[in-house]
Amino acid sequence: MPIALGKFTFLHLTVLAGFCGCFHNDANPAVDPNIPAIAKYFTTKGRYEEVNPYLVEDILAVNASILQPPSEQCRQVHLTAIVRHGTRYPTSKNIRKMRQLYEVVRRNASGEESWLREIQTQWTMWYTEDMDGRLVQKGVSDHKHLAVRLSKLFPSLLSEEKLRGGFIKFITSSKHRCVNSTLSFMAGLTELWAIKDKEFDHAVNDALMRFFDQCTRFVQEVDKNPSALSEVDKFKQGPEMRRVAEKIADRLRVPYSDITDDMAEAAFYLCAYEFAIKTVNSPWCRLFDEVDAQVLEYANDLKQFWKRAYGYDINSKSSCILFHDAFSRLDKAANESRSGKQVSEAVTVQVGHAETLLPLLTLLGLFNDSDALTSTNYATQAQRLFRTSHMLPYAANLLLVLYDCGGGELRLQPLLNEKPVTFPGLTNQPAPVPLYEDVKERYSELLRGCDFEAECQLFEGPA
Ligand SMILES: *[C@@H]1O[C@H](CO)[C@@H](O)[C@H](O)[C@H]1NC(C)=O
Ligand SMILES: *[C@@H]1O[C@H](CO)[C@@H](O)[C@H](O)[C@H]1NC(C)=O
Ligand SMILES: *[C@@H]1O[C@H](CO)[C@@H](O)[C@H](O)[C@H]1NC(C)=O
Ligand SMILES: *[C@@H]1O[C@H](CO)[C@@H](O)[C@H](O)[C@H]1NC(C)=O
Ligand SMILES: *[C@@H]1O[C@H](CO)[C@@H](O)[C@H](O)[C@H]1NC(C)=O
Repeated sequence: MPIALGKFTFLHLTVLAGFCGCFHNDANPAVDPNIPAIAKYFTTKGRYEEVNPYLVEDILAVNASILQPPSEQCRQVHLTAIVRHGTRYPTSKNIRKMRQLYEVVRRNASGEESWLREIQTQWTMWYTEDMDGRLVQKGVSDHKHLAVRLSKLFPSLLSEEKLRGGFIKFITSSKHRCVNSTLSFMAGLTELWAIKDKEFDHAVNDALMRFFDQCTRFVQEVDKNPSALSEVDKFKQGPEMRRVAEKIADRLRVPYSDITDDMAEAAFYLCAYEFAIKTVNSPWCRLFDEVDAQVLEYANDLKQFWKRAYGYDINSKSSCILFHDAFSRLDKAANESRSGKQVSEAVTVQVGHAETLLPLLTLLGLFNDSDALTSTNYATQAQRLFRTSHMLPYAANLLLVLYDCGGGELRLQPLLNEKPVTFPGLTNQPAPVPLYEDVKERYSELLRGCDFEAECQLFEGPA
């Protein structure tokens, strides 16, 4: 979808952004028949729009009130944006599970409901294994639109002048979907400013954006260790998941033994992918009610918790390299700005995976519940902070915004998915945006240590 970017349209959209949510309550996405009622539980397969529902009405709307520079003198001097790739196809493994489920529904389900007839007679299994995780057209738009919104939020940093001047740097994981997302982000900017005479470079850097593959200790102890996810396995065999599978079997009128936990998950993914990729509320979504969706959401949160987050210390430590990279960029920008020089890297856009962002968010201590997620505490974790549906939709982004407020005073505002977050332990700031020095003090232990090589060594890691 091309972005309409005439001057008039741009102004018009800006105005709309200010009113959105006030005059358009009738368009409440919660009751939009085109949006599955369970869409807010799609975890890492969720649309970005579910996290920021005002975007449903206007995908280029920005909420400028989220930026809270503590005073008039504060200028934006640097932005680091660590962004997940956009909407993608399922992986081959999930496509195989979906096909298996589809065959059971097509051949063995009985019933007269229209949604069931629709799956059996009209829906086709259009996913093929060669699609394997590639970016879809919606994923291209995700990044183009994000680029335009960020240029509105950070007009002095993400500007045509800065792009042409080489002050904006792009770094990506080597995966197709990430490279394509990076190119899409750039295209969002070049189309916005109608730049046709120049092309811009990006660097591929897997050491930074796919650190998880290169951290031996993580690979051995967690990624390739089946017992590391024992809580997930127990939950999948447990009463909550069994009940979800039974309800699906009842709706299809097939024996309980026909629907495995994998198939229940595949059905959930079918609903999620049909929605994320084609924006349709597909008949597959009729296999679930909200309670079922919450259980499946928990199953995936549990997996992310143990595989990429607080479950094991090495999960977050594997991101030490990205953590130090971010702070050294901030330090450099801070030093340049303090000494009155032009900041040489105004914006850094780094494109990676959910697996890139989650360990870093964990290292920073965000969304850290007081109790671990386990196979047996689904009910007591109903109000948990750790919700990948909110944290990691497609095109999820961590933004670190550095301000220079004059007199050597620097401040750092963190945003996740264009919404303010607070660094834990820094909530008692006099101003909403903490001093950069206080942020560095908060993470001083990690800034002094958190050595990727040492943490990721298999047998001689630090005590
Ligand atoms: C904009 O951000 C402010 C501050 O975070 C918030 O209170 C408000 O609800 C947001 N508006 C919309 C439309 O999301
Ligand atoms: C579907 O039904 C057929 C008989 O009609 C049976 O042979 C087959 O095992 C069933 N498939 C599954 C997956 O239950
Ligand atoms: C992604 O890039 C590849 C080539 O690098 C291209 O073949 C493909 O069409 C692109 N996909 C999208 C959705 O842009
Ligand atoms: C920034 O300045 C501090 C203090 O002057 C110095 O220790 C640090 O090495 C500098 N960092 C960079 C990246 O230039
Ligand atoms: C997360 O919370 C637990 C329990 O409150 C705490 O022990 C741990 O240090 C926290 N982790 C991080 C990285 O902040």
